[in-house]
Amino acid sequence: MLAGGAYPAMLALGMLRPAPAYSFNLPGKGTGKKVVILGGGLAGMTCAYELNKLGYNCTILEARERAGGRCWSIRNNSVNTEVGQAQTTARFDDGQYFNAGPSRIPHNHELTLHYCRELGIPIQVYNNVNESAYYFAEGKGALSNKKVRAREIHNDVRGYMTELLAKSIDHSGLDAPMTKEDGEKVIEYLMAEGGLDADKLYKASARRGYSEPPGAGDKPGKVADAYKLAYIIQSGLMDPDFYNVAEYTYELQMTMFQAVGGMDHIAKALQQQIVPNLKLGAEVTNITNIPDGVKVVYKDKDGEHSLQADFCICTLPLPVLSNVNNNFSGDVSRAIDYISYMQTGKIGLQFKRRFWEEDEHIYGGITHTNNDLTQIFYPSYDYLSKKGILIGYYNFNEKAQRTGELSFADREKLALQKGRLIHPQYDAEFEQSYSVSWHKTQYSLGGWAVYTNDTRKTQYPALLKPDKQVYFAGEHLTYLNAWMAGAFESARSVVAALHGRVTEQKLNYPTGATKG
Ligand code: ALA
Repeated sequence: MLAGGAYPAMLALGMLRPAPAYSFNLPGKGTGKKVVILGGGLAGMTCAYELNKLGYNCTILEARERAGGRCWSIRNNSVNTEVGQAQTTARFDDGQYFNAGPSRIPHNHELTLHYCRELGIPIQVYNNVNESAYYFAEGKGALSNKKVRAREIHNDVRGYMTELLAKSIDHSGLDAPMTKEDGEKVIEYLMAEGGLDADKLYKASARRGYSEPPGAGDKPGKVADAYKLAYIIQSGLMDPDFYNVAEYTYELQMTMFQAVGGMDHIAKALQQQIVPNLKLGAEVTNITNIPDGVKVVYKDKDGEHSLQADFCICTLPLPVLSNVNNNFSGDVSRAIDYISYMQTGKIGLQFKRRFWEEDEHIYGGITHTNNDLTQIFYPSYDYLSKKGILIGYYNFNEKAQRTGELSFADREKLALQKGRLIHPQYDAEFEQSYSVSWHKTQYSLGGWAVYTNDTRKTQYPALLKPDKQVYFAGEHLTYLNAWMAGAFESARSVVAALHGRVTEQKLNYPTGATKG
């Protein structure tokens, strides 16, 4: 009864609170059991952190000379290797950084926020949606190459659409799917929502902004004219390039969070907890299930080594795992090869002056474009300071593929050439760049797992179960792809499964865990 009907009702009435994110206190001990964890990103380190609490003996093999995987902030002297290219080193001023991987945390990712709390990582607000940033349609329609504030487009479109709806309700007479009184209420709402005038027409409203700002004395301000709907449509500003990118989704809220001083502080805080478990510079070449455990071969600067454990948790991104020798079952091998990954890249551009703040009043948020830049991210930290790093592009799919094919110098050239169409200040203020193409980055080979309905159904389930003694974890084994929360959730789920097996208890993550 309670589960069926009363529980949701009690929740809705505020009589019960939804389960909060909690520290992970599983019952029982795994004392002495050896677990080798492949990959020292957030998923691998979280597995070690939680297994350590339960008394397991963990070793993490991480190929890079740093931990954290994709949770990585680029600072002065950061190095990266892309396939087929020499290692590159970032040359930013001390104190300057950008988040090459995750840069924003949604408030509904409770587990990410929980680990920030548990590990004492300070967070701050991340301004994801900024109505003062621009929409920029290069070479398209009447608004081509014009810097249009997001606020103007949002409010013009809202105005025109509500005008259309108000007209249709006015003219639908007796066929209306609502009573006359309800119709009047809807019209009242539409007029407020769209900023319509008394005749229910959209003629621009103050909320889209002013051509002359209001001020003291006799300065009431002058509302700027609306863009014609036809212009907005023809310039593609209602296309998916602009809509539904970084806005209006469940995760991508207006106000989000970030770790103070760089998202890599999350990785660093976890690393501190598991220092004795971590072997850096250890590249895995073979994973073999043996009768009573797992044998892993890896190489480091001293040569080849072999390690045996009772269990293995493999968090390697699938395109990387695909090149590691193994004796997995056919289903598992197929899934590893079939599940695709996002092509994506970012470039950080250091400028000697925060012209976007000083000249254009843009504090955080994102400019959207229809060209290969896709997005420009303005930093949501160190406001009003002197210098700053913009993310000069953050692109996906074929745009990211094209950009990734370019040399580092040509990526910078592209970011500057397209960026200066929007911010001519680029010419005078630019200092340094550093770009990361994730699908070309050694030991990542992709941004995040991307499922189709088909691969979710046919391939995904094979990796949710252990292949004998080998478990798989990472954002790719969740419905939280591309989020740190995926790494955390997956790590906990696998720790619960492994620990349940060792201690012969049924621990169904998350519901079977003990709250503390
Ligand atoms: N989670 C990724 C982002 O925030 C996709 O851009």
